[in-house]
Amino acid sequence: MNILVAYYSETGNTLKVAEAILSGIRQTQKKILPIDQVDDPGKYDLIFCGFPVHHHSVPAKVTHFLKSIPQGKKLAFFATHGSLRGGEKAISAFYAALSLTGGQTILGTFGCRGQVKFELLDVWMEKPQERAWAMEAQSAHGHPDLSDLEDARAFADLMLHSVEHIYGAGKKS
Ligand SMILES: Cc1cc2nc3c(=O)[nH]c(=O)nc-3n(C[C@H](O)[C@H](O)[C@H](O)COP(=O)(O)O)c2cc1C
Repeated sequence: MNILVAYYSETGNTLKVAEAILSGIRQTQKKILPIDQVDDPGKYDLIFCGFPVHHHSVPAKVTHFLKSIPQGKKLAFFATHGSLRGGEKAISAFYAALSLTGGQTILGTFGCRGQVKFELLDVWMEKPQERAWAMEAQSAHGHPDLSDLEDARAFADLMLHSVEHIYGAGKKS
């Protein structure tokens, strides 16, 4: 089974999670790439796709990538966000990612907090439509932390377990 960890990251938070996910994959046929360097998503059986939440949704570059994934693939999403983990604002980005796919099997999602530079938070706080997440993001400093990365590794293992034991694929690699 060919596995890709594709990520988009502007300030390095999502990259850290992507690397943790890669290290949590026991298989050897695995690769990590920024989404703009993935030339053919069709080559992979399972794609982990990671992004920072932007404006409660998926960044434009990731939108393009998700639409390019052929049907029949297995997908797992991961995201970092300033807002609280599991909150409605973070979950809305996963719904947006889901709405951009069709015909793939979605195995699961993983979200954790990612710090935002204080000077940027001050700017977002002045914008009425961004204020809510920016307020929550004040306590995201230091994330993703070691515990988040440990959870990301466990998530990768869980997704692989799901592919092998629920969907019965990839037993040879
Ligand atoms: C343009 C922009 C918009 C953002 N919008 C949100 C948002 O709607 N909700 C949220 O929780 N965090 C938001 N954030 C915070 C990022 O999701 C968070 O810091 C993330 O961990 C950054 O990941 P990266 O370092 O991989 O780019 C935003 C950050 C930027 C730069």
